Amino acid sequence: MPIADGFERRLRPLLEEIVAVYGTPFHLYDARGIIDTHRAMAAAFAGVPYRQHFAVKALPNPAVLSLLLAEGSGLDCASPVELELARSVGAGGDDVVFTSNNTTPQEYELALKTGALITFDDRSLLDRADTLPETVAFRVSPHGLSAGSRLMGDAKATKFGVPVPELADAYREARRRGVTRFGIHGMTCANELDVDRAARAAVDVIELGARIAEDVGITLDYINVGGGLGIPYRPEDRPFDFTAYADAIVAARRRCFPRSTPRILMECGRYVTGPHGVLVTRVVNRCSKGQEIVGVDASMSALMRPGFYGAYHHVSLPFAAGRPESRYDVVGSLCENMDKFAIDRSLPDPRVGDIALVHDTGAHGHAMGFTYNGRLRPAELLLTPDGDVVEIRRAERFEDYVATVRTQPVPVLSAAARPAARTARATGEQE
Ligand SMILES: Cc1ncc(COP(=O)(O)O)c(C=O)c1O
Repeated sequence: MPIADGFERRLRPLLEEIVAVYGTPFHLYDARGIIDTHRAMAAAFAGVPYRQHFAVKALPNPAVLSLLLAEGSGLDCASPVELELARSVGAGGDDVVFTSNNTTPQEYELALKTGALITFDDRSLLDRADTLPETVAFRVSPHGLSAGSRLMGDAKATKFGVPVPELADAYREARRRGVTRFGIHGMTCANELDVDRAARAAVDVIELGARIAEDVGITLDYINVGGGLGIPYRPEDRPFDFTAYADAIVAARRRCFPRSTPRILMECGRYVTGPHGVLVTRVVNRCSKGQEIVGVDASMSALMRPGFYGAYHHVSLPFAAGRPESRYDVVGSLCENMDKFAIDRSLPDPRVGDIALVHDTGAHGHAMGFTYNGRLRPAELLLTPDGDVVEIRRAERFEDYVATVRTQPVPVLSAAARPAARTARATGEQE
């Protein structure tokens, strides 16, 4: 969407100066916007035991994670590296929910040591674990619930979660093995903007949790309704009605759990930081190849979503107002035809040197970046609530690109130590 009013008001007077002193490209995040969104979410759940755990995968920058922790947010981690990152910013114990899938016993052991609230994505991991945490939650498979967001894919072919018919047995098994506290996790939306669908998905999990708790005879400590709330990427999209969403969850919790009081947990990423980031680039090229092409100095390696799954990100030229509009493809420099930020988009006559903004890059943006073609990931800057602009991650350089290369090859298998190889060498045969 066009940048939120507040962000635009804060950014615009600084933009040319930042670009002049710092160069392009870079992602820039608006701390004020992130804090305000987090606070508005908490306010919508006022009076209810609730905690939002920011999905680290959306924006794994320690500065942003610290900002959110200071606001009372927890963190949602999905891998050992994310757990390590959470620890490095001071998140411990149940500040962290660990919601991973296809998890190895080693990864699980690591999570167990941190004291995180662990979600089991399937029975097999529970069966293989020697030690179980005090609290066990299972993720519910979206198949059979009101799933359906396009990005979630086909619910019948999902790799996530425990199928509903197997859920009660999974809890029984955990209880048999001494577990005394329980949670349930369900996430059946992805970038969902329709509040009725999102609320239906969360209410499904709450209702299912109540049925399972009654059936198995356990009490649920918490219900984690996951993330997946949408943001208005397109100018015509309407913002997600978070208050209506929270109201639906609170009402369902009251109705389904008249005697017990499970906490409501969430693990949103995109909704919290997505609209509060922009990718700042410069136009470096204009040409005509059947269609009009505008080349910018960032590429898909800085923001994969448009090329990877055709996601819409608004593009604007903040200092080109009044020029005649025409239609353009906005492209990066990867040797991949999908490296396009926008296709056939109306823009005011872009000129080489213009600043171009790709909007809504505050979640799953830099985080999904990569280094193909040696087009390295750009820097991340933060606009602080005091109006300072600070670098919170520098741009990658050649040294980073080759940091994992062994200039002296490190032995893995020694041919000399293998009898077959020794014989082959002695007889001159090829191995
Ligand atoms: C288990 C889980 N939780 C939370 C999230 C965060 O999703 P979003 O950023 O769309 O809220 C994801 C996204 O992949 C996820 O898989």
